[in-house]
Amino acid sequence: MDETTHNMHRTPEEADRTRKQFFNDSAGSWMDSWYKDEATGHYDKHRKDFDRLFGLVPLKAGDRVLDAGCGTGVLVPEILPRITESGLLYELDFAEKMIEENRKLHPAANLRFVVADAAHPPRKLLPDGSCDAVFCFSCFPHFHDKEGALQAMARVLKPGGTLAVAHFISSQEVRHHHAGCHAVMHDHLPDEGAMRAMFARASLGIATFIDEAGFYCVLGTKT
Ligand SMILES: C[S@@+](CC[C@H](N)C(=O)[O-])C[C@H]1O[C@@H](n2cnc3c(N)ncnc32)[C@H](O)[C@@H]1O
Repeated sequence: MDETTHNMHRTPEEADRTRKQFFNDSAGSWMDSWYKDEATGHYDKHRKDFDRLFGLVPLKAGDRVLDAGCGTGVLVPEILPRITESGLLYELDFAEKMIEENRKLHPAANLRFVVADAAHPPRKLLPDGSCDAVFCFSCFPHFHDKEGALQAMARVLKPGGTLAVAHFISSQEVRHHHAGCHAVMHDHLPDEGAMRAMFARASLGIATFIDEAGFYCVLGTKT
């Protein structure tokens, strides 16, 4: 059985265990692998892309924000200065090693670290209507229960709050990017129609849908 055939015969639970193991194993080298500019040694390879993303999602002092599938927290230095010390940022990931690295890198007092599945954020910590914005950056294709995760991310949003599903590559580029990695080779973004329908079922009105080379961003506003 070749690798593709083998993967197609895994149960969803087996596939998710493999995926979680892959992310736990990658946590220590994650920032260097994906965000370090080798020429400068700084972690600012995607400066322009972050500026574009945060130009689309307005944050303000005092906001409560959920970063779902946060990994080692690449969004933390983008979000914290915008929400200031009066805001609160929830860093949530199902891979405990990612959260461990994230915690080591980011000692700010207004961060809350959560090890949980994106489809089941703890209700006590993240009650209905408690967040101004939710980011789902570079991770939606990996969520095994996309519908459940979208419903959960919408649940924690205040009316008028924004959900951003974003990548710094297009949906087609995501497909190619994941194709070479056993643990995530079947992790794709739903096509535009499916994504729009999923957002509508989660009471999210789509304000922006960008899917172009080097940038993907779907913004939903909670109705
Ligand atoms: C490609 S990484 C991106 C991490 C981070 N957002 C970044 O851009 O560096 C995808 C992340 O999603 C997390 N993830 C995958 N499935 C998840 C799930 N069902 N619930 C929560 N986190 C999940 C992984 O553990 C991993 O940290």
